[in-house]
Amino acid sequence: MTAWWRNAAIYQVYVRSFADGDGDGVGDLIGVRDRLPYLAGLGVDAIWLTPFYTSPMADFGYDVADYRDVDPLFGSLADAKAVINEAHGLGLRVIVDVVPNHTSSAHPWFQQALRGENRRRYIFRDEPNDWESIFGGPAWTRVEDGQWYLHLFDPSQPDLNWDDEEVRGEFESILRFWLDLGVDGFRVDVAHGMVKPAGLPDIGRGNQATMVGREPVPFFDNDGVHEIHRAWRRVLDSYPGERIGVAEAWAPTAERLAMYVRPDELHQAFNFHYLFAPWDAAGLREAIDSSLATSGSVGASATWVLSNHDVKRHVTRYGSLARARAAALLTLALPGSAYVYQGEELGLPEVLDLPEEVCQDPQRLRDPDSGRDGCRVPLPWTYEGGWNEPWLPIPEEWAGLSVQAQQGVPGSTLELYRQALRLRRDLEGELVWHDSPEGTLVFSRGEFVCTVNVGGTAVDFGLDGELLLASDVAGAADSTAWWKVKCVP
Ligand code: BGC
Repeated sequence: MTAWWRNAAIYQVYVRSFADGDGDGVGDLIGVRDRLPYLAGLGVDAIWLTPFYTSPMADFGYDVADYRDVDPLFGSLADAKAVINEAHGLGLRVIVDVVPNHTSSAHPWFQQALRGENRRRYIFRDEPNDWESIFGGPAWTRVEDGQWYLHLFDPSQPDLNWDDEEVRGEFESILRFWLDLGVDGFRVDVAHGMVKPAGLPDIGRGNQATMVGREPVPFFDNDGVHEIHRAWRRVLDSYPGERIGVAEAWAPTAERLAMYVRPDELHQAFNFHYLFAPWDAAGLREAIDSSLATSGSVGASATWVLSNHDVKRHVTRYGSLARARAAALLTLALPGSAYVYQGEELGLPEVLDLPEEVCQDPQRLRDPDSGRDGCRVPLPWTYEGGWNEPWLPIPEEWAGLSVQAQQGVPGSTLELYRQALRLRRDLEGELVWHDSPEGTLVFSRGEFVCTVNVGGTAVDFGLDGELLLASDVAGAADSTAWWKVKCVP
């Protein structure tokens, strides 16, 4: 057993916005296939593909109507097979998304339910409770005959009833379908949501979405979800080749989150605590220490992530490209597995000025400023005096950030990531902190030392060693440097 995931770099492909293979303005699996050599050349170990299944796209594929087929917008099942096989040929593993908390309202099961058949597969009630949808508005919608159904997300995403044996059996069969096709694992969407508490108790206050991940909310993180993850682990383990499960789970405490990655459950969970850490030395160190301690407490490996398709890109969150580059080198030096969101290797910022009429994210219902369109703008590959009418407009100034503009250019963010991902392969050993001036972080892993200056003025770390890589002049404000030293300070 290699336990490959424990220190893997995993690249998130948001398929819709990655690469457009057929010229219709929307990314697709042919585009992914064409760009596999780029990803292998970048130096990642695996890719995670966001949902490409048959879907009305109300939530851009997180509303699945057929879990065993590919939406024509993204290609065909044959394209999915080709991506998996060719990725494997290039030494890349492939993780796909699975969305078990809810289906699309276009799913044949929900269509049956609307006709009054087999409603037990969903959560129908004569009276709604006071739960609110994560996307805004009530979490209940009334159907023609007067009953209500629960949807923690969009009304077009009805929640499944995981107390129903048929639902459990169906999802195990879906996992097997993709495992048989060769996928190396699953990113489990809303892995903390499937099981609801008996009696669906009221919460008794509004603005519930703001509580998610910070306070216990009755609709999330119920103990019953762990039985499902254990069953899924048994399915994963019944296949050769170390197939993994990655939880997208929000839990109110680190201890509760660690439960998802106990040895008989999923292999990893996204580290949102690190993602939301502030750009200051104490905050980053606390997030790193607590993440290492939490995952270590159950024998799991830590994970690190700075951006994804649901949050503002970290160039913008941290306020500058310099900080984002420094954060990337910090992240890639940490022990554990690192997730890279497409485009961060180009230093892309959030697009904040998308015209109102092009924004499509259902989350904007809740708050017009909280939409996730700005982190989903398609990648700028090649600038040819304009961009090929992508589904969300690419800013003109991204010409300078395109792959074409950065490829092979020393010092570019793309080359920084390439070098870092290559050097990262040799990193091993535990993280040891060292004393360092205020506003800085210094840690070693064997002879490797990482120095981070989070402050606004340059610092001389006084290291006697070989400078391996730096996000800026070593020691500059908002920079990270990697060193090889004989004698650790
Ligand atoms: C996904 C989102 C999606 C939601 C509902 C999330 O966790 O990452 O993009 O909107 O689940 O499926």
